[in-house]
Amino acid sequence: MSVIRIQGLKSLRGEMKIQGSKNAVLPVMAAALLHEGMIVIKNIPRIQDVFCMIEILEALGCQCQLEGHELVIDTRGLCRSQVPDEAGGRMRSSIMLLGPLLGRLRQAETCYPGGCVIGRRPIDLHLAALRQMGVEICSEGETIKAFARNLQGTDLSLAFPSVGATENALMAAVAARGITRIRGAAREPEIEVLCRFCESMGVRIEGIGSGFLTVYGGTKLHDCEFTVPGDRIVAGTYLGALAVTGGELCLQGVPATHMAGTLGALQQTGCICEIDPECICARMDGRPYPVNLSTGPYPEFPTDLQSVMLAVASVADGYSRIQENIFEERFATAEELKKIGAHITIKGGSAHVIGKYPLVGGEIWASDLRGGAALVVAGLASEKESRIHGYSYISRGYEDICGDLTALGAEIALEED
Ligand code: EPZ
Repeated sequence: MSVIRIQGLKSLRGEMKIQGSKNAVLPVMAAALLHEGMIVIKNIPRIQDVFCMIEILEALGCQCQLEGHELVIDTRGLCRSQVPDEAGGRMRSSIMLLGPLLGRLRQAETCYPGGCVIGRRPIDLHLAALRQMGVEICSEGETIKAFARNLQGTDLSLAFPSVGATENALMAAVAARGITRIRGAAREPEIEVLCRFCESMGVRIEGIGSGFLTVYGGTKLHDCEFTVPGDRIVAGTYLGALAVTGGELCLQGVPATHMAGTLGALQQTGCICEIDPECICARMDGRPYPVNLSTGPYPEFPTDLQSVMLAVASVADGYSRIQENIFEERFATAEELKKIGAHITIKGGSAHVIGKYPLVGGEIWASDLRGGAALVVAGLASEKESRIHGYSYISRGYEDICGDLTALGAEIALEED
């Protein structure tokens, strides 16, 4: 088992190109199935969830070749509509294959998706959208079976701007006959990326970046090459690390326009950010100021950085309040932060934090991806050594968190236990 060992209280300094975005690349890989041909995806993050998606695509009959950060997917051999249970159960994004499989093969079968345990993660909105497009769906035990004899464009309205449901509806709409209008669509940057990828294959989409998408389905698709943007959550994690250690960072490859909610949160801590379209430079002097944050759908502050900001608030100079509105169990991280000296009280959907600098450090356990990253940030703000277990969660989304932070001046290493 791998353990992250951190000796904290070292300031961070330097420049870094941020890895490709996990939550953008996974739906793009799924959407590749919509086309029968060759798709090249660049700036692929080498993370466990990507490896898992490759495993699934290969099990479905595609050929995948990953070299460095470039992935070539040959989808001509797609012949199976059944997502393998073991791999599908390992990650949430397996549900994303429903739309494209229905599009290509008119049928799909998958188990209920896995992924991090961060609260209830129903898929009712995905299924409701697909049903409205003419898909017949039945559940048999833990298996979802879907058939689309007649995949038809229609007018959809999502009751909540779910990222995954928007992506699934969008991918089915690409293959459907006629026009699909999706009202109440999620506006997360990852949706825009998926739309741009579909455009690269020849699809016409209007309203990209808004909550109202119009997809012209049934177009003949073509081969394409596509580059995934940098990961806004990884960038936000490293900026959170800067907020607790002080120093100066320049992060490249993540459009600053994708990070307004995060940069607003960082500015509350006293971090000074200068941005140009492709580079975010941030400077932090002294202890962070307390924050008052509330998570919400984009462009609000992202739930994926709530745990990281909880770690930042744990060392802030005063009282912080963080409200979680998307995934109720994300405050599980608070229990681990408390073990190393944080003063956090969870009441209802809010964390009330009295900052204490530095934290003590010690032995702590990650139980989800972003919570694990938050524990790393807390370790960087601790006076004694920290040992963080549960690296398998962190490696789902961070290509080399220890290598990156070492390059920026932290004393951190991945060791075998
Ligand atoms: C995506 O999950 C991301 N995952 C999550 O990141 C991220 O936290 C989340 O969007 C919100 O930004 C991927 O992109 C692979 P949702 P997703 O559907 O699509 C409710 C990470 O750490 N809901 O927008 O699953 C749901 O319960 C991961 O990288 C329904 O009620 O999120 C939640 O409260 C974790 N019914 C809210 O909507 C549904 O059918 C948002 O979920 C679907 C969702």
